[in-house]
Amino acid sequence: MRGTDARCFPLALVATVTSKPGAPTQEYEVALKESIATWNERAAGWDSQKEAQTYAEQAFSTLEPLLIAELPVGVRPRVLDFGAGTGLLTAKLLPLAKEVVAIDIADQMLKVLGERIEQEGWTKIKPVCGDLLDQAIRSQPIFQAPFDLIVASSVCSFLPDYPAFLDVVSKLLSPQGIFVQWDWLANEAGDWASGFSLEQIENAYSANGLQSVRVGKGFVFEFQGKELDVLMGVARKLLADC
Ligand SMILES: C[S@@+](CC[C@H](N)C(=O)[O-])C[C@H]1O[C@@H](n2cnc3c(N)ncnc32)[C@H](O)[C@@H]1O
Repeated sequence: MRGTDARCFPLALVATVTSKPGAPTQEYEVALKESIATWNERAAGWDSQKEAQTYAEQAFSTLEPLLIAELPVGVRPRVLDFGAGTGLLTAKLLPLAKEVVAIDIADQMLKVLGERIEQEGWTKIKPVCGDLLDQAIRSQPIFQAPFDLIVASSVCSFLPDYPAFLDVVSKLLSPQGIFVQWDWLANEAGDWASGFSLEQIENAYSANGLQSVRVGKGFVFEFQGKELDVLMGVARKLLADC
């Protein structure tokens, strides 16, 4: 968390829920640069925050049963951890996965992950620094094979173009693959401006090549005596009718 304000954990850059096709706008580039600077600043202290660790633990605890229910039996998924940061969730995914591609725009967050990879001798985690919406990044060989699982833990509400991101997700998923996101659930009073409503998520999925599996409360996150709802959205690639 940033300081003592829980909203600043997954916080502040409110996703625009209107997609802008074509080349990135100047507004998009500025938002991305600000985000990189913000997350690079937070990198050194991120792992020592109990809240960041707890969030990753809780997210993972909701993921395990889902994978059993939704992924083909006996298949070790090829995973994309989007906005992997220092790898708090990435590390938990490792025993289940064939390979985890950990992408993030903040090089300092990935530097922390890189140090852990070296210490632990993890060979299945492949860090990538860059913007997934950038065609040059996506044309790298590592993005040519599809992913069975794409996760985004506390990332989507920071994205300057969430719909465009979902469109890319739908292209990167294997036919049986699933996408899972966790973000603050916006409450009725709209106090948590950086969160999503269930309807926003459902609409964004269906407008961007994804089919909702379920969108609802994922877990309750306790912070300084307050209970904050975390939304979990799960979607599949929308397959064309045969
Ligand atoms: C709240 S942290 C979550 C990190 C990690 N998922 C975890 O569970 O600890 C948000 C992360 O999203 C990354 N991020 C923000 N915007 C991004 C973007 N457009 N593309 C990739 N990563 C992004 C940040 O750099 C940061 O590492």
